[in-house]
Formats: sequence, structure tokens, C-alpha cells
Amino acid sequence: MQKQKTFSAVIVAIFFFGSAFSFTVKAQSAPPSAPAGRQAIEVRKAAFALIGNSFKPIGDTLQGKIPYNQAEVQKRAARVVLLADWVGEAFPDASNTGLPDTKAKPEVWSDRTTFDKRLSEFREHAATLAKVSATETTASDAFKTAAAAVAKDCKSCHDAFKLK
Ligand code: HEC
Repeated sequence: MQKQKTFSAVIVAIFFFGSAFSFTVKAQSAPPSAPAGRQAIEVRKAAFALIGNSFKPIGDTLQGKIPYNQAEVQKRAARVVLLADWVGEAFPDASNTGLPDTKAKPEVWSDRTTFDKRLSEFREHAATLAKVSATETTASDAFKTAAAAVAKDCKSCHDAFKLK
């Protein structure tokens, strides 16, 4: 019994180090398309999760659920700007079809022009929100207009390019 346990531990160790080694070798020699695609999916999902997390209090403020807090809104808008920039690099062709765990619709790639347009509008509106929140001390019309433009971008892109 004890012997068997040690034996399986050795087998596990061989598998572990073996696969780690072959991964290193592959990363250097094989075309990077599949790993790059999977990595891009992980990056964009992480970026969008953080975008969601950053934008939520801004959306709540917009809906009057929580009071306007200039420092908070400013900080979070800046995060959305940074993350939106990241998203732009996270939809390479290699991350399109045949890969699990993505909710991106094939239209991202088949209608790239529209997708890129949505993305650049989103980035523009997020930058405007960051700028506006630097000066607005209340939930002014200027804040509301800027925040609503970003919220609309989330929805319109999801409707067209994200699976439910
Ligand atoms: C230009 C298009 C576009 C815009 C704009 C956009 N999204 Fe997304 N979002 C996507 C796509 C596509 C996915 C699916 C990514 C995947 O699964 O590979 C996604 C995924 C998500 C996810 C799920 C992430 C996960 O954990 O898998 C959240 C949350 C999210 N978006 C929030 C937002 C919020 C909030 C905004 C606006 C502030 C926003 N998105 C703006 C296209 C967009």
C-alpha cells in the first residue's frame, strides 16, 4: 500500500514535470496560435470582469442607487479607460472559433469593422467620462450624459457581439 502510494506520487511527479517541460519546449518552437488564442480569451474575460466591477458603482450612481462620490467615480472611470485599451488587443484571429469558454460571437471576426467601431466608441466615451468626473462635483447632467453613453456602449456591444 505504502509502496503503491509512493509509486503513484512518482508517476504524478513525472507527469507534472513532463508536461511543464513539454509546455516550455512547445512555447518556443510551435506556432503560438492555439495558446495565444486561449490566452487572449483569458485576458479579455479578466479585463471585462474588471470593467464590470469598475463600472458597477458608476452605473449605480447614474441610477440614483448610491450618492455621487467624485473621487470614486474618477478612480473607476480611469480603470475602465485602462481596461478598455487592453480589450482592444484581446480579440486576435487565433481566439475566434473552436475554443471553449468564450462568449464572444463569431460576428466579432466576421463583422470586424462594426466591432472595432463599437470598441472605439466605448473607449472614447470612457475617456470622456474620466475627463468629466475630474471636474464634476455632483451627479450633474454632464456626469449623467457621460456615464449613460458608456452604459449604452456595454449594452449595444453585448447585444451584437456577446452570447447570453
Ligand atoms: C466592443 C464590445 C463590448 C463593449 C463595449 C463591452 N463589452 Fe463586455 N463583453 C464583450 C464580449 C465580446 C464579451 C465576451 C468575452 C468572452 O467571453 O470571450 C464580454 C464580456 C463581458 C463580461 C463577462 C466577463 C467574464 O467574466 O466572462 C462582463 C462582466 C462585461 N462584458 C461587462 C461589460 C461592461 C460593464 C461594459 C461597459 C462598461 C462592457 N462589458 C462593454 C464585448 C463588449
